[in-house]
Amino acid sequence: MATPPLILGNWKMNLNRKKTGDLAVGLKNSLHDLGSGVTVAVAPSMPYLDAVGKLIEGSPIKLAAQNIFWEPRGAYTGEVSGPMLLELGCSYAIIGHSERRIYLHETDQIVRKKVRHAMDSGITPVLCVGETFEQRQQGNKDVVIMKQIQEALTGIVPSEKAKIMIAYEPVWAIGTGQACDPKEARETTEVIRSALVDLYQQHIADENFIMMYGGSVDESNVSSYVDNESICGVIVGGASSVLEKFLGIIFAVA
Ligand code: PGA
Repeated sequence: MATPPLILGNWKMNLNRKKTGDLAVGLKNSLHDLGSGVTVAVAPSMPYLDAVGKLIEGSPIKLAAQNIFWEPRGAYTGEVSGPMLLELGCSYAIIGHSERRIYLHETDQIVRKKVRHAMDSGITPVLCVGETFEQRQQGNKDVVIMKQIQEALTGIVPSEKAKIMIAYEPVWAIGTGQACDPKEARETTEVIRSALVDLYQQHIADENFIMMYGGSVDESNVSSYVDNESICGVIVGGASSVLEKFLGIIFAVA
C-alpha cells in the first residue's frame, strides 16, 4: 500500500518553550482537516516533546524526535532511549543528521546502532545521508552516500510493518537557501536505491524503504521534490519553524 508523503518539520534547537507551544497549537488549529493524502510530523527540541505531544493530541500531526540513543536504559548520561520516546508518543526519530555527524562526531557505526534501536523500539527511523560541498567538488558524492547507506544498514532488515525512511540531505543545501536541483535529488535517490540492492533482496529494497529529501525546502520548491515515486517526503528545517511557511509547504503537497 502506498504511504502518503511525510512532511517532517525539524525545529532543531531554534525555538524556546513559548514559541514551540505556539507553533504546535497553530499547526493543530490549521490542520484538523488535513486528510490522509499527507503525513505531517514535528520534531521539537527534546525537553518539549512531552508538552508538544499533549498539545497536538487529537490532531493528525505526529511527533518525531531529533535524536535517539541506542540502548533502552542504563547509565548513559544525557541520552534518551527509544522506549522513552515511545512513551511520549514519538512515531519517528531523525538519525544521522549531518549536524550531529559534524558537531557530535556521530559515525556510521553509531548511526547503525541508533537505526537498529529505533526499529527495536517501534519507532520509524528517518536516516539522513548526504555529502558535503567538498566531497561533491571532488566528485565523491555517490561513493560517500553509498558508504553511509551500507554502513548504517548492514544487518538491519526492515519489513512492510517496520519501514525505514531515508532522507537525502546534501550538507551544502541545509540552511543555506541553496536547495539541490530536484532532478539531481531524484538521481541521488537512485544511487541510494542501488546501494540498497547491494544489501537486500530487490523486493525488500523496493518496498520497505521510503526516500525523502531535505535541504532548503520551502513553499515554492517543495512540489518539485515530492513526486510520490522517487521522493515521498521532505525534512524541513528553517521553514518549519514559521507557522505560515510550514503550512504553505504542507498545503502545497496536500
Ligand atoms: P533546512 O534544514 O530546511 O533549514 O535547510 C533541513 C534539515 O536540516 O533537515
